[in-house]
Amino acid sequence: MELKDKVVVITGGGQGLGRQMALRLAAKGAKLALIDLNQEKLDETVALVAEAGSEARSYIANVADEAQVESTFAQIADNFGRIDGLVNNAGITRDGLFIKAKEGKVVQKMSLEHWQQVIDVNLTGVFLCAREAAAHMIEGNTQGVIINISSISRSGNMGQTNYTAAKAGVANMAVTWAKELSRYGIRVAAVAPGFIETDMTAGMKPEALEKVCSVIPMKRLGLPDEIAHSVEYIMENDYFTGRVIECDGGLRI
Ligand SMILES: NC(=O)c1ccc[n+]([C@@H]2O[C@H](COP(=O)([O-])OP(=O)(O)OC[C@H]3O[C@@H](n4cnc5c(N)ncnc54)[C@H](O)[C@@H]3O)[C@@H](O)[C@H]2O)c1
Repeated sequence: MELKDKVVVITGGGQGLGRQMALRLAAKGAKLALIDLNQEKLDETVALVAEAGSEARSYIANVADEAQVESTFAQIADNFGRIDGLVNNAGITRDGLFIKAKEGKVVQKMSLEHWQQVIDVNLTGVFLCAREAAAHMIEGNTQGVIINISSISRSGNMGQTNYTAAKAGVANMAVTWAKELSRYGIRVAAVAPGFIETDMTAGMKPEALEKVCSVIPMKRLGLPDEIAHSVEYIMENDYFTGRVIECDGGLRI
């Protein structure tokens, strides 16, 4: 897909990886519809996109809320007249061990609340946004592209029962949707980043971060633009569908 003048929706576009994706695609002339919960961060990204020479609009919506997602995608299609791309990037973590015991006594369990919050945003949110984007692409007769942001953790990671379940789900939904939607000319793929320099990893304990870097073959965290580059590649390569790009500096759990 040639990105010039195409309309791409990015969830979680306020900051971090979503913001960097917006800037990279803007540099190629794409117009951006940015969905997030944080208006201040969205305003900053919209201004940066304008500096990069393109245009963006911001939309406040919770990706886990069906009514909000439906009305937001309808509004985006109305504002821009089309939807060519979607990056399902919004995500959260609520890390904790599944069960923690001391001297044979269970002292902590992952709460249903933490399980559900992550499943709602990282799995159901992806399902809802992709469904609405695909519906608009089909009715608008657009040969669009949908990209789910998974994670290296999709293969299983200590302390991330909820997150790994969701990230394995979004990688596999991309494969399913690629099979189902190719008849409409829609491609679907995923990117599974390793550990990338954003607020999400800034929240990790320094000793945990140091340990992680020591086992990454590249010996450093990835940069947000390196993930944005993978997104740009999928958008532009018309034969790429149903696959997951692992961009993790060689680290595979
Ligand atoms: N940073 C990493 O190392 C890393 C690694 C692998 C995968 N990922 C994934 O990449 C994506 C982006 O991560 P990031 O590091 O930029 O995170 P981030 O926390 O910096 O940004 C996430 C954005 O999503 C928004 N968001 C959260 N919940 C939302 C909701 N319910 N509705 C709408 N917007 C919502 C937040 O407001 C925020 O702007 C996530 O899916 C994350 O799981 C990140």
